[in-house]
Amino acid sequence: MCLALLGLSWGMWDLFAHVFAFPGGNKGLCGVMKLLSLSWGRPCAAPSGSPCTPPGSWMACCVCPTVTPCPQPSRAVPFPAWDPRPAHLSRLSGKCFSLVESTYKYELCPFHNVTQHEQTFRWNAYSGILGIWHEWEITNNTFRGMWMRDGDACQSRSRQSKVELTCGKSNRLAHVSEPSTCVYALTFETPLVCHPHSLLVYPTLPTVLQQRWDQLEQDLVDELITAQGYEKSLRAIFEDAGYLKTSEPSESAQRDRATKDLQFETLESCQEAHKALSQEIERLQGVLTHHGVPYGKPAETPSSEHWGPQTPTAGIAEPLRGDPGLRGDTL
Ligand SMILES: *[C@@H]1O[C@H](CO)[C@@H](O)[C@H](O)[C@H]1NC(C)=O
Ligand SMILES: *[C@@H]1O[C@H](CO)[C@@H](O)[C@H](O)[C@H]1NC(C)=O
Repeated sequence: MCLALLGLSWGMWDLFAHVFAFPGGNKGLCGVMKLLSLSWGRPCAAPSGSPCTPPGSWMACCVCPTVTPCPQPSRAVPFPAWDPRPAHLSRLSGKCFSLVESTYKYELCPFHNVTQHEQTFRWNAYSGILGIWHEWEITNNTFRGMWMRDGDACQSRSRQSKVELTCGKSNRLAHVSEPSTCVYALTFETPLVCHPHSLLVYPTLPTVLQQRWDQLEQDLVDELITAQGYEKSLRAIFEDAGYLKTSEPSESAQRDRATKDLQFETLESCQEAHKALSQEIERLQGVLTHHGVPYGKPAETPSSEHWGPQTPTAGIAEPLRGDPGLRGDTL
């Protein structure tokens, strides 16, 4: 028996997909799947199709013309314009600036690398990399310098350089020093940082990250998070902006694993859900931290069994406020 189901409407197909839970449905694959036929206990007959239900049930025969991995809400692609360069400084990239000091010529290519070339006719003149673009140093919400790391080996480590941007009449590599062995300090002058606000981080962030930061400030004032939690969340914002390298790859890997089983039709819905979940996690962690309740990483409690009926829910924050008895009562 073979039911011809060509032309099945999308709504019905959705229902079907949910009822039969075809493989691929939870493998993070998106695609316009076309159902060719449905039969009981019989393999897929259509040459171009392949089975899309588990064996031993109704056999659906499908073609998947454009199956691509679903956009996952990962840190790697949080926003369309993921870029470590604040807009007003981006015009420095692709350019290089050099400085000759005693026997060395130093070259700085902002957002790319720092190199050093010995100015001599010796056959073995040193020429090497003092650092490759890594991340910003941010303190007090201000861009303090560009870190260029993983340069050429130097004793047991690799060379690294910190480039400080200061106001100057023209773009110029003004000074190079080596404050400690194999760590270089460069001063780069540019008119691009002469405005008193030009090195502030907040104005350079996309709106969605500014809103997260606003919320963070509010949570700090409301004592929903500790100063430590604030610092951590702020760092996450800078990481999402691309200004800092992700510090805990294992944590984001866990997050990716946790979200792997969710499937979304569009990148927008992925991002929406991810944002909502992240905010909820942050908020709940804030509540727990606030009350001194130790907690594990989300991945360590994959099922709700651990928590039983006392799973913290959205409504619990208010009653807990100022209630130091939480720990004894519930855990
Ligand atoms: C340094 O960066 C510049 C600009 O991107 C590039 O042309 C050059 O090849 C790089 N040098 C090294 C040694 O990577
Ligand atoms: C932090 O930055 C603000 C604004 O630029 C400045 O007024 C303040 O003095 C700075 N504080 C510290 C401790 O550097």
